[in-house]
Amino acid sequence: MEKLEGVIFDLDGVITDTAEYHYRAWKKLAERLDIKIDRVFNEELKGVSRMDSLDRILEYGDRLADFNATEKNEMADWKNELYKETIVDIKPSDILPGMEAFLDELKQAGIRTAVASASKNAEVILQSLGIREQFDFVVDAAKIEKSKPDPEIFLKALELLDLPADVCVGVEDAAAGVDSIKDAGIRAIGIGDATVLRRADVVLAGTDELRLETLKSLV
Ligand code: BG6
Ligand code: MG
Repeated sequence: MEKLEGVIFDLDGVITDTAEYHYRAWKKLAERLDIKIDRVFNEELKGVSRMDSLDRILEYGDRLADFNATEKNEMADWKNELYKETIVDIKPSDILPGMEAFLDELKQAGIRTAVASASKNAEVILQSLGIREQFDFVVDAAKIEKSKPDPEIFLKALELLDLPADVCVGVEDAAAGVDSIKDAGIRAIGIGDATVLRRADVVLAGTDELRLETLKSLV
């Protein structure tokens, strides 16, 4: 009989609200380039790596051919510096509602946990939130080659957890992230809008709705 043995969490927008800070920093960079982005377009950036996000913005503004690799690296660095200014004060009270209690509950139940984040800032953020030790493993951008929606990051998390896909559940706020989970053969819980997170097995409006029973019912 299958049972829940592992849960793999995205970070930005699932454990803490850094998805909003990424959006604000990209919006400022886009403004400098005379490209207007909004929250609807931002759904396409969520979960996607820094350089892929920049390419998507440039493509959206029809400016992809205007910059060389050095200029694009400078733009990505500029965005990251802006973003880092907004996360410098991040603290345990910035953990999204219900998440700490949920992680405690998983630990009590002997369920292993990992973070699968496309962010190069993931370790710093987890340390600042004071919950790095809550997770058995962290797979971040430094440990993978292919960005979400590719399943590599969730497959790597399964490998580290030493668990098969069918006893695990992944939790994501991004369409690219849900695709990554599903293509790794894992059941997915989406946090956010069901019309955006179409491939998720269950969509919850917020992290405060996460229940162990819901995850167990999926495996
Ligand atoms: C993901 C975010 O977790 O990390 C994306 O959802 C972000 O918005 C990506 O672009 C890369 O993050 P960073 O911190 O390495 O620029
Ligand atoms: Mg996310």
